Amino acid sequence: MQIVSENLLLPFCFILPLIVTSPEAAREVLKTHDQTLSGRDAPNSIRSINHDKVSVGWLHPSSARWRLLRKLMVTHLFSPQRIEASKALRMKKVQELVKFMDESSKREDAVHIGMEAAGSPDLANFFPFLRFLDLQDASNSDFLDALLDETELDNNDIEHLLLDMFTAGTETSSSTLEWAMSELLTNPKTLAKAQAEIEHMIGQNGLVQEPDISEMPYLQAVVKETFRLHPTVPLLLPRKAETDVEIFGYLVPKDAQVLVNVLRMGHRTRP
Ligand code: HEM
Repeated sequence: MQIVSENLLLPFCFILPLIVTSPEAAREVLKTHDQTLSGRDAPNSIRSINHDKVSVGWLHPSSARWRLLRKLMVTHLFSPQRIEASKALRMKKVQELVKFMDESSKREDAVHIGMEAAGSPDLANFFPFLRFLDLQDASNSDFLDALLDETELDNNDIEHLLLDMFTAGTETSSSTLEWAMSELLTNPKTLAKAQAEIEHMIGQNGLVQEPDISEMPYLQAVVKETFRLHPTVPLLLPRKAETDVEIFGYLVPKDAQVLVNVLRMGHRTRP
């Protein structure tokens, strides 16, 4: 059973990361030893803008600030009520994208899906969160109100949180979409099956709605296969050992960086 592709090496005082490449070892890292391996060492690019001190992705999960940010996201952004309340906005954005694609296709224009899905270069690029939140839409101001009402957050915290949301939520989704479409174009039989399922659904309702997705197993399989082949965060976020810990007989020393290679796991053949 392959556990790691590289063991810890300590030449010249550098610690090379432990890279986990098997699902069994990933389970050990992400479940059994989750607490011990939940430290973070932010890269220079993140530290240079002090993002590590305020970002939900880089703060330590045991810190009060991380818990506060997670609570805000869970209650004000991703709760079932909020997801339901913002459904019309998502539908509007998807329709705009589909219309744009349709018109571009008629003109035989090439389209950069990532740019279109995430927002074209305009003022929103300087204040990207404005487009993400679509502040003109009253249903979205609740989240901003909640952030402004939160006495423990200042403007800087809010800016970093919105930056997190924008960076975590746009490129991940748009590049997954791009990969799904590229894979479909090179697999005509799969494309035909996916189109047939979509056409069947459109035939019933005139439009694919969010609840319809639960009845579209083929489309779901296409998305999952895209995640497997082209994970947008191929090594997940780097973890750091808080104390010495043993995984399948290997000693992972305190402060070692641990990377989970989901890209490799998705491509390996079953033993
Ligand atoms: C295809 C879409 C997406 C993919 C593939 C994706 C993938 C990931 C991955 C791999 C992580 C790191 C997990 C870890 O190593 O601990 C992560 C974290 C995160 N993602 Fe996403 N993501 C997607 C969409 C989104 C969206 C739409 C949002 C929000 C608008 C979002 C917000 C976050 C946040 C806030 C974190 C940090 C969570 C924490 O550390 O507490 N993601 N995502």
